Order: sequence, then structure tokens, then C-alpha cells
Amino acid sequence: MDKKVHELLNAQINKEFYSAYLYLDFSNYFKAKSLDGFANWYMVQAQEERDHAILFYTYLQNEDMPVTLDAIAKPDKVFSCNMDVLKAGLEHEKYVTSLINEIYGAAYDVRDFRTMQFLDWFVKEQGEEETNANDLISKMELFGSDPKSLYMLNQELAARVYAAPSLVL
Ligand code: FEO
Repeated sequence: MDKKVHELLNAQINKEFYSAYLYLDFSNYFKAKSLDGFANWYMVQAQEERDHAILFYTYLQNEDMPVTLDAIAKPDKVFSCNMDVLKAGLEHEKYVTSLINEIYGAAYDVRDFRTMQFLDWFVKEQGEEETNANDLISKMELFGSDPKSLYMLNQELAARVYAAPSLVL
């Protein structure tokens, strides 16, 4: 495997674990505010991010490439309102999309078609994650300021259940 592609894939393990850590922090924020549905939604998100990390980890192992695990950074955002959290989530997903695109570009440059095929799932997944984050912001804009509506939205988000990723390596 190309050195740069390998480095970026290995770094992505850490980025995905950081994403899990970040969303765990979001979940913790909402739990402290007794918005358990929002807390659940981000807990499921954190579980999905952990899965993403393991997919990168497993892909490198399957390719017989070394895996180096690095320290996971501290989530250090301070939020002044619920909407801040949701917007930080969207911004973070846009950043992750840029990381996936960067790895894809590096693989493309060296005609690493296997890595490109592996990353195809993540390209689609990032589209879905940005849509989900956007939808959440739209709903919050519409309903977040009315306590009864916020209660209903919280109930809706409580229904999100974890599902294993559709990509199996
Ligand atoms: Fe692993 Fe939210 O992308």
C-alpha cells in the first residue's frame, strides 16, 4: 500500500474514535438537561462512530498493514444552548467528509482501487450523516422553542436504535 494512503487510513481510526468521543460528550450534555431522547440519539451516533473506527482498523489488518493507535483528543467544546450542539455535529460531519475525500483522493492518485472501493461505503455514509445532522437542525429550528414540541421531538429521538454497519469486512 502507498505510504500516504496507509498513513491517512491509520489516522482515520483515531478520527473516528474521536467522533465517538465527541458524540458521547454531546449525549452527556443532553442527559444532564434531562433530554434523554437527544442523549439517546447521540449515544447511537457514538456507537456508529466506534464501528467506523473498527472498519478502518480491520481494513488495514486485512491488507496486512500495520496499525498504530494514537491518543484520543479531549472533546473540549462548551455549549451555550441546545442548538449549538446540533450545529457542532453538522460542522464535525462536514469535516469528516473532507477527511474521507482526502483519503479517497490519495488512493485515486496511486490507482489503489481496493481502497477506493472500501471508501465508497464511507462516501455514502457521510452523505447520510450530513443529511441527518441537517434534519435535526431543521426540526430544532421549527420546534425547539416550544416546550411541548421539544418534548415530542425528544420522544422521537428516543426511538433511534443502534444497528450494526451494513459494511462487513
Ligand atoms: Fe464516522 Fe460521522 O462519520
